[in-house]
Amino acid sequence: MLEQREMIQINKSGWDKVADQFFEGSFDILDYGDYAPTEEELHLLGQIEDSIILEVGCGSGHTLEYLAKRGARELWGVDLSSSQINTAKEVVSNLGTPVTFIESPMEDIPGLPDSYFDKAVSIYALGWTVNLQKTLSNIHRSLKLGGTLVFSWEHPVHSVVEYANEQLRFRRSYVIEGFEKHDSWRGTPIVMQYRKVSTFINELINAGFVIDKIIEDSTFDDNDTSNSSEWYSNAKARMIPSTLIIKCHKV
Ligand SMILES: C[S@@+](CC[C@H](N)C(=O)[O-])C[C@H]1O[C@@H](n2cnc3c(N)ncnc32)[C@H](O)[C@@H]1O
Repeated sequence: MLEQREMIQINKSGWDKVADQFFEGSFDILDYGDYAPTEEELHLLGQIEDSIILEVGCGSGHTLEYLAKRGARELWGVDLSSSQINTAKEVVSNLGTPVTFIESPMEDIPGLPDSYFDKAVSIYALGWTVNLQKTLSNIHRSLKLGGTLVFSWEHPVHSVVEYANEQLRFRRSYVIEGFEKHDSWRGTPIVMQYRKVSTFINELINAGFVIDKIIEDSTFDDNDTSNSSEWYSNAKARMIPSTLIIKCHKV
């Protein structure tokens, strides 16, 4: 049985290897995920200008760049991967907004200040955590009272369904949670966590958040004939949401 710290270590090495494959993103829009509505459509973050914002799992820094270009006063980015943090540092280097980076697992973030942030955001990163309870309590502690957390993650139903032989089928149970070690995810070992939607909601409530909005909308296009065997495809998005987006605030 893998221990949590071993999983974090495997994922750190994995993300250091695959980081280049994830060097993407745009500062024109804030993309919550493939086939998901954008921040420009949803307006979940509210006022960015003059805000102090934390990004959990900041990857190559494009969301930080997006926030800086919209007038954030101060930004912090946390990520496990040295290679992602190094890229993110370059991406934000000439923006004129102070950005503090912490290279650390989100399960235990040394140096993260208490009651400091107006907002926290996390795009397709939070679900990597091996300890959702600890991660959410770290974020909760770091937010000011009333501070907002907005995160997106692969929809837990999407994660367990695959397209095969022109049909969607369950590749694993939705109700049995837990981790799965993949020996060659994009060519490297990685450990993924499977959680139900209710687990995310209940853990947010346990951490002291009030949920404002849950979004499961899917932006499929009837004229899209792209390859339906891709993990994210129009055919799949037509039947199940690709992405779960939750907005909540600290009380
Ligand atoms: C799919 S990428 C998303 C990056 C970025 N938010 C974006 O939208 O491009 C997931 C990120 O989560 C980071 N990550 C994975 N597990 C983590 C953990 N336990 N603690 C902190 N970061 C983690 C990875 O290094 C990677 O940069």
